[in-house]
This record gives sequence, structure tokens and C-alpha cells, in this order.
Amino acid sequence: MDRSLHLRERLGLVIDPELGASIVELGMVGEVEVDETGHARVQVSLTTLGCPLRAQIDRDIREAAKSIDGIESVEVVMGVLEPTAKAALMKKAREIAQRAAPLTTIPLRTPVLMIASGKGGVGKSSVTANLAVALAMTGRTIGVLDADIWGFSLTRLLGIHGDVEARGAKMIPLERNLGSGRIRLLSMGMLAPEDQALLWRGLVVQKAVAQFIQDADWSGIDYLLIDTPPGTGDIAMTLARILPQMGQILVTTPAIAAQRVAVRAADFARKSNIRVIGLVENMSGFECSCGLHHDLFGVGGGSALSGELDVPLLAQIPLDAAISEGSDAGVPFALGEPVSGVFHRLAEVILTDIAPPVGASGCSARLLDALERAVEAAN
Ligand SMILES: Nc1ncnc2c1ncn2[C@@H]1O[C@H](COP(=O)(O)OP(=O)(O)O)[C@@H](O)[C@H]1O
Ligand SMILES: [Mg+2]
Repeated sequence: MDRSLHLRERLGLVIDPELGASIVELGMVGEVEVDETGHARVQVSLTTLGCPLRAQIDRDIREAAKSIDGIESVEVVMGVLEPTAKAALMKKAREIAQRAAPLTTIPLRTPVLMIASGKGGVGKSSVTANLAVALAMTGRTIGVLDADIWGFSLTRLLGIHGDVEARGAKMIPLERNLGSGRIRLLSMGMLAPEDQALLWRGLVVQKAVAQFIQDADWSGIDYLLIDTPPGTGDIAMTLARILPQMGQILVTTPAIAAQRVAVRAADFARKSNIRVIGLVENMSGFECSCGLHHDLFGVGGGSALSGELDVPLLAQIPLDAAISEGSDAGVPFALGEPVSGVFHRLAEVILTDIAPPVGASGCSARLLDALERAVEAAN
């Protein structure tokens, strides 16, 4: 296929985080060109220019372009829609909102972050648990899905135990309040006893993951974090179909082997149209009580990888016995961490830059309110 056509098609999967619909379908994408040197130029018109979500759309477009062979560089030209075009976009957004039968109780505007890695044991679950806590401590409700059927761990890490109950036909996540916020957790481990889970095969697992999203009551969450087993592209693809807004955060360690695996994981994600939105380097260095710093697995890997993949390095988390002790005790490390601590900084980057909450961004909030009123009036 012609590369510019291919890119336009791929841009159809980029979602305006506020309006919850494809930027192509909303009529926001103008000219899309790819020249013979592999340079792509994409024109986009937004409802308004000055807002944090602009950066997100910009990144998503670049990420889309990276998934296409032969595109070497990307230029995104942002403009603002003319009033008449804005009115047309509103009409379109309204139509889409009315037509789209939601696949889940999770609105397209709710950011969904999948924590992934090619390798096991790099700290995906630890990052998921502590990030969830740090986000919840800002007064938000954070949904957490433990999609690691073979090695589920978040019930223990988050200290949330109990049986899943159903209301109507929906599973109700278990909850833990944290200050003015809370975590709502569902784990595949709640469904299958550990010894049986080992017998589950690929397709069954994919169906089960889908059920945990679709047949569960996730209403009221501000973010959804999904912890995954290592290197399972199938689960990622299943989730991406149901949750088109999902982005992936890759966790890696500074070890060269882990870095190479992370490159393959990023490559696979992009080929499957899943956005890679950031990198977390875990176990990067160790401070001993003697005051010395040791780089146990090498140094500089995270930033080199961030450059190679062209995704931001969101955090570098040191190796710290308190992190694993907190996990074992069901008292996540981030609970007692100062606000300047590494997990709270990670949460802050996500809240302000990587996936800002749509409601609070105030970008085209008025537009959105008008849209919701129109949909309500129509129903
Ligand atoms: N930064 C860290 N410092 C100390 N221990 C850690 C750190 N990150 C993870 N661990 C420990 O390493 C092990 C593997 O971490 P885990 O989060 O389960 O990895 P994964 O989910 O990728 O398999 C666990 O015992 C965990 O407590
Ligand atoms: Mg894990």
C-alpha cells in the first residue's frame, strides 16, 4: 500500500482523548504525505491549541507513524479548526457518541495504561501496584486489573483480599480506600485457583481477560492500570481491541539482555497498533547503608533505550529492599514514600504529561459539556 495511505489508515486508530473518537473520523486530519526519503508530514486541526492533550495527540501521531515500515521521520503540523469546521466536528462527535455502543463500562476518555515487558521479574507488578497507590493518593479512583493469570500477584501486593461478587451480570472489583482516593482491583487470580490457572490455554486466557474488562463494573474509575504476564502479545492485542485508548508502559532493567527484550516488545506492540507511551527503568542502581552507590546491572541503559525507541523515560526506580518488603507485606512502598519519592514523581508525570485526566484538562471542556448535554437531550 502507498505509505501515505497506510499512515492515514493507521491514524484512524488515534483517538482524541477528550472527544473519545478517531481523529480521522472527526475530520481533524488534513494532508498526510510521506516523501521518498521516508519523511512524513501530517496536518492536524484541533478544537483548541493550548492544552496538555495536544502533546498527547502529537505523540500518538508520531507513535502511529513509527509502526509503518519506511517512515523515518515525522513532522506534525498543528492548526486550529475554523468555526464552521468546529461545528461540523461537534456534529460528527455527537453522532459517534450516539452510535457507539460502548464495549465496556470504561469511557474512551478514561486513560488505560498497560504495564508490560518482554521479560519476567523486571518489576511490572511492583510498578503497577505502587503507581496505582501514588495515583490514588491524589484523590482519584484507580482501577487495577491483574491480567497475569499464571503469576497473579496484585492481591498480595496491594493487600486487597476477598471473593469477587457480582451485581447483575457484572463482577464488582474489590476496593481499598487510600486517603481521599481508592483502588478498585480485579485479578485473574480471583477467578481461578492457582493450580488450575496453570492449565489454562491461550484462547481461554484471552477470553477471560476480555471478560474482566467487559463483564465487570469499572464505573467511576479515573485511570485503569493493567498488569500483564511477560511477553504475551495475545493478551495485549485482545485488550487493545476492547480498549482502543490503551497505551503501553514498558518496564525494563538496566541489564543489556532486558533492554534487547524491551526493544522487541516495543516493536511487537507497534506492529500490533498498540502505542508505547513510556519507559520505566527498574532496579537501576542500589544505595547501600554504607552510603555508596552501586550500579548492579550497568548504567545509562534506560536513557539509551528511550532514545532508541523514541519514547520518554518516565522513571528510574532504584533497587530498594523496602520495595520488595512492602510488596510481601501488602503495604505498598509508595504508601509511606514522601511526595518527592520516585513513584509519586512517576504519577505526577502521568497526570501532567503522559495521560492527563481529560475532565480536568479544560481543553475543550466546554465543547465536551455541550456534547454530553446534546447526547442526553437526544436520549
Ligand atoms: N525496585 C525494586 N527494588 C527491590 N525489589 C524489587 C524492585 N522491583 C521489583 N522487586 C522485586 O523483584 C521481584 C520481581 O518483581 P515483580 O514486580 O513481581 O516483577 P514482574 O511482575 O515483572 O514479574 C519481586 O520479588 C519484587 O518484590
Ligand atoms: Mg508480575
